[in-house]
Amino acid sequence: MANETANEVLAAWETSSQYWNKHQALIESMFAPLSRALIEDAHIVSGQTVLDVGGGSGEPSLTIAAIVGESGCVTYTDPAAGMVRAARAEAARRGLTNISFHQCPAEQLPFADNSFDAAVSRLSVMFFPDVLAGQREMLRVVKPGGYISFLVWAAREVNPFFKVVTEVLDRFVPADAEDEDAALREAGAADVRERELAFTIEAPITVERFWELRTEMSDTFRKKLAKLVPDQVAAIKYTVQKAVGSYFKAGGMNFPAKVLVVTGRKLAD
Ligand SMILES: C[S@@+](CC[C@H](N)C(=O)[O-])C[C@H]1O[C@@H](n2cnc3c(N)ncnc32)[C@H](O)[C@@H]1O
Repeated sequence: MANETANEVLAAWETSSQYWNKHQALIESMFAPLSRALIEDAHIVSGQTVLDVGGGSGEPSLTIAAIVGESGCVTYTDPAAGMVRAARAEAARRGLTNISFHQCPAEQLPFADNSFDAAVSRLSVMFFPDVLAGQREMLRVVKPGGYISFLVWAAREVNPFFKVVTEVLDRFVPADAEDEDAALREAGAADVRERELAFTIEAPITVERFWELRTEMSDTFRKKLAKLVPDQVAAIKYTVQKAVGSYFKAGGMNFPAKVLVVTGRKLAD
C-alpha cells in the first residue's frame, strides 16, 4: 500500500474514532465472542503480559485486562489518536490500572524483542498497510514460544451484518483472510492454523439503531451518504431496513456471522 493510501486509511480511522467511542458499549457486547476466541486461542491466562494491536475503542484489551488481573498487564496499541483517547478513557472509567496505552501502527511497535507472553489483534490486521511487516513486528515482540492470534471477517456472503448494507450502498472490500494467514507463516510463525468461528451478532437494538451504527462506524458509508440528497438517503435507509428485517425480532438484532481466527507461535530459541 502506498504511503498516501496508508495515510488515508489512518485519517479515516481518526474520523471514525468518535463513532467507535460513541458506540463502544454496543461494539463490546456485539463482538464479545470474538474477544473470548482470541483469549482462548492465544492461551491467555492470569499473570501474563499481553499486546493488543489495533485495539480501537478498547477491545480486546479491556476484556483481557480482567483475565490477566493485577499480576499481569495489557499493552494497548492503535495508530489513531482518537481511538487511543477513547480506549484510555474507558479503562479509566472502569478503574483498570493494568493497561498501558501507546499510539503506534503495527509495523512500528515501540517495544523490545521478546517482551510479551502473547499478542492479539481483533479485526485490525486487514487495515495494516503492510500485513507482513505488521505480523513480523508482532512476532518480534512476543517471547519465544508465545502465541499470536488475530481475527478477520470470513467471506461477505456469510456475514449479512455487512453484506446487506453493503449491497444496497454497493461498496465494500472484504478481507482476504488467506493472505493474512499466509503472511503469518511468511513472517516466521510456527504451527499456524486457522479456524472458522460462527457466532451471533446480537444486541437489544432496533433496526433504526442498527442503521445508525452501521452507517456511522464505516468511513466508506459516511462518505458515500454525505454525497447524497436527503431523499436518496431516505430511500437507501428504507431499502436497507427492509432487507435486514428478518434479522430483527421483538428482542432485538440477531445476525449469524463468521470470522476466521488465525493463530501461530513464535519458535522457541
Ligand atoms: C475495525 S477496527 C477494530 C478495533 C478493535 N480491535 C475492535 O475489534 O473493536 C480496526 C482498527 O485498526 C486500526 N488500525 C488501522 N491501521 C492500523 C495499523 N497500521 N496498525 C495497527 N492498527 C491499525 C484502526 O485505527 C482501528 O482502530
